[in-house]
Amino acid sequence: MSTINEQLDSLKTEALSSLNNIINKEELMMWRTKYTGRSSALSSILKNLKDVPQEKRKEIGLLVNDIKKNLELLFKDKDASFDNKIANEIDRNIDISLPGLPVRNGSLHPITIALNKTLKVLSQLGFSSIEGPEAETSHYNFDSLRIPDDHPARDMWDTFWLDSSFNNEELLLRTHTSPMQIRFLEENDPPIRIAVPGKCYRYESTDATHEWMMHQVEILAIDKNVSIANLKATLQSFAYEMFGSDAKIMLRNSYFPFVEPGVEMAVFFRGEWLEVMGAGMVHPDIISAAGYDPNVYSGFAAGMGIERIAMLLWDIDDIRYFYQNDLRFLKKFKN
Ligand code: PHE
Repeated sequence: MSTINEQLDSLKTEALSSLNNIINKEELMMWRTKYTGRSSALSSILKNLKDVPQEKRKEIGLLVNDIKKNLELLFKDKDASFDNKIANEIDRNIDISLPGLPVRNGSLHPITIALNKTLKVLSQLGFSSIEGPEAETSHYNFDSLRIPDDHPARDMWDTFWLDSSFNNEELLLRTHTSPMQIRFLEENDPPIRIAVPGKCYRYESTDATHEWMMHQVEILAIDKNVSIANLKATLQSFAYEMFGSDAKIMLRNSYFPFVEPGVEMAVFFRGEWLEVMGAGMVHPDIISAAGYDPNVYSGFAAGMGIERIAMLLWDIDDIRYFYQNDLRFLKKFKN
């Protein structure tokens, strides 16, 4: 007959190896009862300790308690492991050794990043952001900006007209963010310094520098004594902050019916001048239509092309990449 020490040893080995095969909580509970419970072999050895020769009693008692304590600890560990998800998956017979599915982190679209950067720089220059409607009336998109029906400047904006109307006025997808100049002037008094981000639409064919939908940020500053020097300083500060102080920029004459004089700002890019915004001094007619004396109040406005800005920021030679939804392209931009 084996000694009591040998019995304890093999009991322990058995308990450990059967614990290894346990795959759910139910089995674990049964294991606990079997090896450490009141009618377990260990408990009965303790109960019958009086049958053990006097000189071994203490040793065996301690040993049994030790094993019991150990098994209880192992039980607790295993029980906790079932509480976490991976263990539950073993329960459902899922092979947790299979490599996991990669979690793809989304990132902001490059145009969103460029737009945010633009607004941040403008806010440092004192312009607060405000948005306007994308569906506009021809009154705000054209007429109030001194672009009447028969004005040749309407040719500059081939327009998407909508089927719906508002107050009997036909609606269109705004071709620029300039309508917000008028809307804001109607509701607010100078001094004014706003930046208006948003989508604009033009019914034209696309090429490397044109898309039928693009983002603009309009800026408008109206106050007493605003001069073209302020416009120039603002655009220069903006460009150096955005593109670095070694950026080559050029302001040249341009024409927009709602400014006088009008300019455009171009940035040197891949051997050419890329136009990134139109700008100018707000036309005196617009100031007086808003109810202010153009001899007292003056201002400047600009409309920045965000896709063009993004092309400059990341050296991208074709605007159409932005809207092809090619993840190989989109993943290159970190916020
Ligand atoms: N709205 C003009 C455009 O879309 C840009 C512009 C804005 C020009 C403000 C002058 C002043 O081309």
